[in-house]
Amino acid sequence: MRKPIIAGNWKMNKIRDEALEFIYTVNQDVPSIDEVDTVICAPDVLIRCLVKRQGDNLRIGAQNMHFEESGAYTGETSPLVLSDTGVKYVIIGHSERRQYFNETDETVNKKVHTAFNHDLIPIICVGEHLEERENNTTKQVVSMQTEKALKGLNEEQVKNVVIAYEPIWAIGTGKTATPDMANETCGVIRSVVSELYGKEVAKQVRIQYGGSVKVDNIKELMSKEHIDGALVGGASLDPQSFIKLVNYQKL
Ligand code: 13P
Repeated sequence: MRKPIIAGNWKMNKIRDEALEFIYTVNQDVPSIDEVDTVICAPDVLIRCLVKRQGDNLRIGAQNMHFEESGAYTGETSPLVLSDTGVKYVIIGHSERRQYFNETDETVNKKVHTAFNHDLIPIICVGEHLEERENNTTKQVVSMQTEKALKGLNEEQVKNVVIAYEPIWAIGTGKTATPDMANETCGVIRSVVSELYGKEVAKQVRIQYGGSVKVDNIKELMSKEHIDGALVGGASLDPQSFIKLVNYQKL
């Protein structure tokens, strides 16, 4: 069975004091790491102080990094710096990075390789625009993004990636894909992995849904066959909401 993975993506929110208060509030109330992987993906400058204070069942992630270890890349974060903080996960290719910072399928693939070279688990984001959903090209778009992101990885690496299906039209809009729509596209992603790496690998890869996940819809989303977790923006900022989300089994 695939272990669920619920990750908060704080995006560009919270100052240090707010982040620390959050961590101290949720540390005791996240489920056992044997049952659920619970992750907070925080802005870079907050990562070190959060890793220091993470409870036994919480892990910290980054929201992006560069694919090179060092060089003339003003303003970028090196994978060496990230892994030195003790961070465990890194989001790669979030749609906001694709949209505002020229992230492409090629840079996503380079970053995924870099993550594995530095013992970081990539949370790879894929997802279609509203026009693509309306043109019925979701399947092709998401399949192509998945294939390009995984290019050149070995089976062991693919078993360990986390893929987040985030339809762009559902991010921060309050519009959630229905659980069946989300499950259908997560199933498409799993079948792409199966075609490329075989059934056994596809059975193990974890696929999250992201896009307006909230306390009142997470349980149904998580009940679906191909949905193994959630990548949560807005609803991960409030500690009480986050505690409920990661304990969705008790809702
Ligand atoms: P919201 O949960 O705020 O829609 O954000 C989703 C997201 O982009 C998570 O990465």
